[in-house]
Amino acid sequence: MERRRMLIVVIFICMFAFSSCRELKVKVKHHQIQHHELATYNHTLATILVQYASAVYMSDLTELFTWTCSRCDGLTEGFEIIELIVDVKRCLQGFVGVATDLNAIVIAFRGTQERSIQNWVEDLYWKQLDIDYPGVDGAMVHHGFYTAYHNTSLRAGVLNGIQKAKELYGDINIMVTGHSMGGAMAAFCGLDLRLSLKEQNVQVMTFGQPRIGNSVFASYFNQVVPDTIRVTNGHDIVPHLPPYYHYFPQKTYRHFPREVWLYKAGFGSFIYPAEKVCDGSGEDPTCSRSVSGNSISDHLTYYDVEMGCDVSSSCRIVMDPRIVAYGKTDFDGNLILSRDPSKYNLELNKDRGNNQISV
Ligand SMILES: *[C@@H]1O[C@H](CO)[C@@H](O)[C@H](O)[C@H]1NC(C)=O
Ligand SMILES: *[C@@H]1O[C@H](CO)[C@@H](O)[C@H](O)[C@H]1NC(C)=O
Repeated sequence: MERRRMLIVVIFICMFAFSSCRELKVKVKHHQIQHHELATYNHTLATILVQYASAVYMSDLTELFTWTCSRCDGLTEGFEIIELIVDVKRCLQGFVGVATDLNAIVIAFRGTQERSIQNWVEDLYWKQLDIDYPGVDGAMVHHGFYTAYHNTSLRAGVLNGIQKAKELYGDINIMVTGHSMGGAMAAFCGLDLRLSLKEQNVQVMTFGQPRIGNSVFASYFNQVVPDTIRVTNGHDIVPHLPPYYHYFPQKTYRHFPREVWLYKAGFGSFIYPAEKVCDGSGEDPTCSRSVSGNSISDHLTYYDVEMGCDVSSSCRIVMDPRIVAYGKTDFDGNLILSRDPSKYNLELNKDRGNNQISV
């Protein structure tokens, strides 16, 4: 008993030493970006939004559209989907709907998973800062992430969905979320809503998001969308990519703030989950940058929620023929499903059988 108590004391001393060491590290000057305001992290909200970011991966469009998928319950129960957009060619997906319990419009994005996650991650090493972010001197981003939101049917579908949601529910808050590449798209969307729709209350929360632009872009992003949280998990490799070279702060990719890092604290068998709200630099060296990004499995689970496709053959989508009535296909072969939650309730799930079509 005595020994056990000793052990606990020792552990606490170690933890204290460890944490004061962290404090010291924070004080070491590192390249700061000009930050305006920093978002307040709300753990409860994060555990809700991560479920939306997970649900958007579902390939069964009927279940997603009627919000009856296996990932569509729990904290997201009662969500009213308004617009579901599928870019078939590029394998992108997004939805707009209203969460009455949050009193907010929720927008979630899923990025491409055409190839294996390993291949996708390997490609991330080589992504160039190859286009200027329009209207901002010196701000550069990666065109693939930029165009996935800006140059596909996603943007028009999302703006249309927001307009409909506002007609029905008034001027409520907007929360934009996504995981991985979907997080990159969520970031561009949040920025776009502030800039082109002049929306005031836009919150962005991404999970396991890669870097998307340079330091000028990061600084601009923080100024325009200060209410942004970028959650990273343990050794998740994706937030480490494309690489950040701190010797060339102006030339490389750089994250925007504010990171919240989920990690395992403690020693030996005394391990518990902890989270750290990081500084305003976007590249807090005491957060995910304090560890090597070498894990894909840490990328696929956030707050114990499974992220990623439900079927290994990724880009397949499935839907009930009756749902076609709610959809239209644009010139590019993309699918947009719309509904008005005030007018009718969908009850498609009662006798579905095998009567499905694949696209
Ligand atoms: C955090 O978010 C939850 C869910 O939206 C909300 O109920 C709660 O009031 C928020 N907490 C704070 C401190 O803002
Ligand atoms: C967007 O798409 C149009 C038409 O397909 C193309 O001409 C344009 O170059 C694209 N823009 C970017 C930034 O890729």
